[in-house]
Amino acid sequence: MSTSMFNFGHLTVTERSCLVLFPRSVGREQHAQSRLLSLPVLNGTVICYNSLKDRTSRGTSTDCFFFSLDVMSLYRNTVWFLTGIHQFTRKGYEAAATYFEPQDLNVSVVGRSFMITGANSGIGKATAMAIAKRGGTVHMVCRNSDKAEEAREDIIHESGNTEVHVHILDMSETGKVWEFGEAFKMQYPSLNVLINNAGCVVHKRELTTEGLEKNFATNTMGTYILTQTLIPLLEKSRDPRVITVSSGGMLVQKLRVDDLQSEKAHFDGIMVYAQNKRQQVVLTQQWAKANPNIHFSVMHPGWVDTPAVASSMPQFHKMMGDRLRSVEQGADTVVWLALCRASARSRSGQFFQDRCPIPAHLPLAWTRNSAEEIQRFMSRLEALAKEILSKAEEEHRSMSSFRPQYD
Ligand SMILES: NC(=O)c1ccc[n+]([C@@H]2O[C@H](COP(=O)([O-])OP(=O)(O)OC[C@H]3O[C@@H](n4cnc5c(N)ncnc54)[C@H](OP(=O)(O)O)[C@@H]3O)[C@@H](O)[C@H]2O)c1
Repeated sequence: MSTSMFNFGHLTVTERSCLVLFPRSVGREQHAQSRLLSLPVLNGTVICYNSLKDRTSRGTSTDCFFFSLDVMSLYRNTVWFLTGIHQFTRKGYEAAATYFEPQDLNVSVVGRSFMITGANSGIGKATAMAIAKRGGTVHMVCRNSDKAEEAREDIIHESGNTEVHVHILDMSETGKVWEFGEAFKMQYPSLNVLINNAGCVVHKRELTTEGLEKNFATNTMGTYILTQTLIPLLEKSRDPRVITVSSGGMLVQKLRVDDLQSEKAHFDGIMVYAQNKRQQVVLTQQWAKANPNIHFSVMHPGWVDTPAVASSMPQFHKMMGDRLRSVEQGADTVVWLALCRASARSRSGQFFQDRCPIPAHLPLAWTRNSAEEIQRFMSRLEALAKEILSKAEEEHRSMSSFRPQYD
């Protein structure tokens, strides 16, 4: 069976996936082995078509057999992609925008402070720009100081707002994220809005120095630790909000509780990313329950033309071309959730797309988890975080007691 890697948005083809075309008269197994014709298709699913005209028995009929290793995965991916073509594109945004309330973003947020992770690029930078233009104090949390400073200068130049600050932090370094959050709480008296935007897709399984799988460390653990650490500061602040930029890709994923580090199955970076984005949705729902004084929301920006999409899904980026949303369109719902008075009146913990709360599950997709599974996920995440942070705390203590020998 010939195989190839092919990324089609969140549909990733691996060596486990193939589309086999064969005439009806030949046994399926023979054909699966025969290299007759094998094309990449959906992850984990073998689809067998008899698309050749079977003139002897069936005239021009085309038969389709599904040998499904995971029929549900095929269903989810198909529904997801069809939904995406209608809703996640530029046209989808333009159609949704006809229902937007024009006055919603006509606000001044002078005196309010906003922290945005991954604010040097794409959706994060567009969000920082929109907030700066309305007078907010912006804390950009970025990992690359050159890129961050360049973005900061652009934002100050275009908005005329000088209250734009850069903090250098790699969100995949759990101990550092915690140290940063603790230091921020000491330095600043309030934080009104936290926007968890930084995200990555790493295609090969890599571990951080703390032993966490890189996608999970950045997308889930970084988001979890930063938010948990800043909750006490947010609670002290007026109209506090936490917005997390997830992805519609999470709709094809059911929360997996027993393999947070993606050790057990074949490693597929796009699917691990989508799983992390599902984890962000679950975290948001749990935070909302546990912290009634803070408004939590999580959202899908649509399919947006950003460096992340161009580099991690080049075929998808090329194929979608002009159909991708602009960064401003992708940032619109983040900005609305962060600034608009009406958005904070919606129920906390919901999943949004184009300024509307939408279901976090596709119909009939079997992606819902039991309360017991969600509890187990939260406990495992917390245990993992505690393990890493206790080491970081120890190091922190030994660093603070460290005195240079020749002082
Ligand atoms: N674009 C889309 O179609 C789409 C769809 C669904 C969801 N999203 C989500 O939107 C968010 C923003 O992505 P984007 O599309 O705007 O891409 P982007 O322009 O590449 O922005 C990603 C940002 O995250 C930062 N980042 C990545 N890993 C980091 C780390 N370990 N520590 C600190 N910062 C880190 C990047 O920093 P560097 O510049 O230094 O790399 C960059 O600033 C992500 O969470 C993504 O999952 C995007």
